[in-house]
Amino acid sequence: MPSAPAAQPTPQLLTIPARGSFRRNPVETARTVLLPIDVNDGPELWDAVEGSRWHLERWLPWVPFNSTRDASLRYGDACAIDWDAGRAVRFAIRDKKTRELFGVVGLDSCVHLHRSCELGYWLRREATGRGLMTEAARAAVDFAFSRMGVHRLRCAAATDNVASLRVIARLEFRFEGIARQAELVGSRWLDHALFAKLSTDE
Ligand SMILES: CC(C)(COP(=O)(O)OP(=O)(O)OC[C@H]1O[C@@H](n2cnc3c(N)ncnc32)[C@H](O)[C@@H]1OP(=O)(O)O)[C@@H](O)C(=O)NCCC(=O)NCCS
Repeated sequence: MPSAPAAQPTPQLLTIPARGSFRRNPVETARTVLLPIDVNDGPELWDAVEGSRWHLERWLPWVPFNSTRDASLRYGDACAIDWDAGRAVRFAIRDKKTRELFGVVGLDSCVHLHRSCELGYWLRREATGRGLMTEAARAAVDFAFSRMGVHRLRCAAATDNVASLRVIARLEFRFEGIARQAELVGSRWLDHALFAKLSTDE
């Protein structure tokens, strides 16, 4: 009699911690709190994008499409749905004392089978130059590895996005290559510098 096939090991998938628990107990850094984005963040997200269009639209292709307050509400709603479906974990970065919105840091494109996702971020213009993104993104990286079980975390920035490349360098991602004309932003094709960090990296 043929023997039964050996049982396959159960793959270890990503863990997506429940969103509600972080509304009550946000991820904290020295100067910020990270809170899951939902529809209630829509109006402040709109104000932040609207007040920083020139600063953001050079690097982020979605900015021109975020053209009404309603679009920001829909984005907030979609973030909550994506989190609950395990597709993406996106945080509003807020001032620890005043709860003012500084920007967004996200762990996007979650691939459960390979335990990978991609770090993305932006700050409203007035919040730049203070180390806030390095601080918040470091907490998000730590969250990915320690709370979600991520093995490989990707990050990409346009080859001329100096501020973003500096954030990536401070977070000690490793350079993996250049993706030519990876993104069409406005009328400009951006080459991307690709980086990653593994849970096993020293
Ligand atoms: C990318 C982006 C988030 C970087 O913002 P940033 O303010 O340069 O990054 P940080 O918040 O980490 O601040 C770092 C800067 O603050 C300075 N700084 C001041 N006080 C500091 C402190 N207490 N701790 C650390 N850094 C401090 C640092 O010297 C550094 O400036 P430098 O890079 O010129 O040396 C911002 O430029 C942005 O939103 N850009 C548009 C959107 C975008 O490009 N997103 C990424 C797409 S890949």
